[in-house]
Amino acid sequence: MGKKNKRVGILTAGGDSPGLNAAIRGFGKAAIGHYGMELIGFRDGIRGLVENRFIELDTSALSGILTRGGTILSTGRDKIHKMLVDGQVRDMRNAVVENYERDGLDALVLLGGGGTAKNAFRLAETGLNILTLPKTIDNDIVHTDTSFGFATATEIATEAVDRLHSTAHSHHRIILVEIMGHRVGWLTLAAGIAGGADIILIPEIPYHVESVAATIQARMKRGSTFSVVAVAEGARDLSDTADIQAAQSLVESATTPEAVRAAKNHRNAIIDSQREHTFKLARELEAATGLESRVTILGHVQRGGTPCAIDRLLATRLGGAAAELVADGVSGVMVAARGEGTDTVPLQDVAGNIKLVPPDHEWIMTARHVGTGLGD
Ligand code: F6P
Repeated sequence: MGKKNKRVGILTAGGDSPGLNAAIRGFGKAAIGHYGMELIGFRDGIRGLVENRFIELDTSALSGILTRGGTILSTGRDKIHKMLVDGQVRDMRNAVVENYERDGLDALVLLGGGGTAKNAFRLAETGLNILTLPKTIDNDIVHTDTSFGFATATEIATEAVDRLHSTAHSHHRIILVEIMGHRVGWLTLAAGIAGGADIILIPEIPYHVESVAATIQARMKRGSTFSVVAVAEGARDLSDTADIQAAQSLVESATTPEAVRAAKNHRNAIIDSQREHTFKLARELEAATGLESRVTILGHVQRGGTPCAIDRLLATRLGGAAAELVADGVSGVMVAARGEGTDTVPLQDVAGNIKLVPPDHEWIMTARHVGTGLGD
């Protein structure tokens, strides 16, 4: 008897991101059409995997999804080692191992970001064959050049920065546009440079309100009675940054699970109390410059809709490369984007790490070269 075809599971986890369907299709078409595998897709991320809710994905299910936003499989933000099940927080790794065996799987492909890398690593530790593909609009995954979703979100945020220029100019206003990115500034920096924002504020460079106001005042002196400020959702002034850092060091120095939980609650309360930071900055700038200020929060607009060509290409390339790796029996890795090709990175090198914007990064230098204020 010939060797049985490989049977593979795929799922999407974490926040959705443009290009997820392109990656499912890229993997699926290569896996089924080229390597003769069978493919099933788990619903709702990790939760579907735990509850064994899946659909068979054949070529017709993969047809027509390249350009679709979101994920045909739906997604969720569950953590495999502490999932809320029947009102209790439980470690569900064993349920996944059972389902993997019951479904006759040879590998599982998880499409996700930082949280998914941690889930993937925890599952790989149980002995399952796990691979991940890097997806996030935040571009904060380590050891990959980029992730699908980032290029599309950059396009959307750039268009917003573009459009805000004419209205800010017409009304002699400061417009602050808050851009996603969780704890990193890649998206804000990229869209701020591409859209020609006058000031770009990112978490990696805590800002001084006085410095932001001085940039606006200098523009006013030159006759520009408006300014567009691109503010990352994670950007903070020096004093708010110090508060978060102090709370974070309490988390890191806590020695018992109870102390860790209490310290995390304290840190999260501080972050919560700073949620309106862009509005606070708008008020401060209005007072300092005398210019009227407005805030635009782009929010989930940046994650919705069809992926741009670059993300479709990237997602398809990564998907195809992942299928080849599964066919070759490789697992325990993230399939990274590297130049025009791909690379593999051990999951343990990805899980728990975050790619910040280095303060001397070329894009930072670029922004400085064109006279963009960075608030420092
Ligand atoms: O990680 C992607 C992201 O969009 C971040 O930029 C943002 O902080 C977060 O997800 C928002 O999450 P949610 O969709 O749960 O509101």
